[in-house]
Amino acid sequence: MALLEIDNIDVFYGDLQVIGNLSLSIEEGGITSIVGANGAGKSTLMNCILGEIKPRKGKILYKGENIASLKTFEIVERGIALVPEGRGLFPFLTVEENLILGAVSKEAKSKTRENLERVYSLFPRLQERLKQRAGSFSGGEQQMCSIGRALMAEPDVILLDEPSLGLAPIMVKTVVETIERLAENGYTIILVEQNVMTSLRISKKGYVLQEGRVVMEGLGTELLEHEELRKSYLGV
Ligand SMILES: Nc1ncnc2c1ncn2[C@@H]1O[C@H](COP(=O)(O)OP(=O)(O)OP(=O)(O)O)[C@@H](O)[C@H]1O
Ligand SMILES: [Mg+2]
Repeated sequence: MALLEIDNIDVFYGDLQVIGNLSLSIEEGGITSIVGANGAGKSTLMNCILGEIKPRKGKILYKGENIASLKTFEIVERGIALVPEGRGLFPFLTVEENLILGAVSKEAKSKTRENLERVYSLFPRLQERLKQRAGSFSGGEQQMCSIGRALMAEPDVILLDEPSLGLAPIMVKTVVETIERLAENGYTIILVEQNVMTSLRISKKGYVLQEGRVVMEGLGTELLEHEELRKSYLGV
């Protein structure tokens, strides 16, 4: 059975339907990419997995349990964490204070110290500046902080929504390497990226969304070679 199984969900904002009959299946381990044009519903899907918006119909099965009606903190406790679009840091809190907010469950809270050490060993840059306000950081450093905060929840699955958006090319490279490293460390990654080519290259599987529906799915390498996809999304 898949680790995370989205089964035929519909999602609305008021009367506006943005996701329709969407199903997808995420196996444990590795990176799965969700790609699609602006407004396709990628962020909505991520927020829906995290329980921030509820599907009007369908199921979201995580380790076999339907989590579709759970509260966000209950979903995070079960092992899913989001690195949101725009990073979602509190700019006036320090790096360390932002990180600590990621420890949601009792268990994660009790291991705050050792998890902070793990985050700092992954991102030494954060440790150097842990008393600094997050708002004073560069985009790339903020992204590290946001990923670090997700790790503080001790997740099995990490959802990343546009992690490289607005970053300088050199930082994009660092973020991509970080994501690959997380996958190597056994995390299951769901990645939404404007950088479609790079994202598919590092993914074992990809889904293409269009107007809230899955219009294509396949191995990352297959999608990279796909004529139609290359024309419409990769601009080649
Ligand atoms: N809070 C909201 N209220 C009403 N409509 C919304 C809301 N958030 C998003 N939408 C609409 O839902 C659709 C999907 O938006 P969503 O943000 O999920 O797309 P996306 O694929 O993440 O786009 P982008 O690539 O620009 O981040 C869009 O038409 C958007 O305008
Ligand atoms: Mg989005």
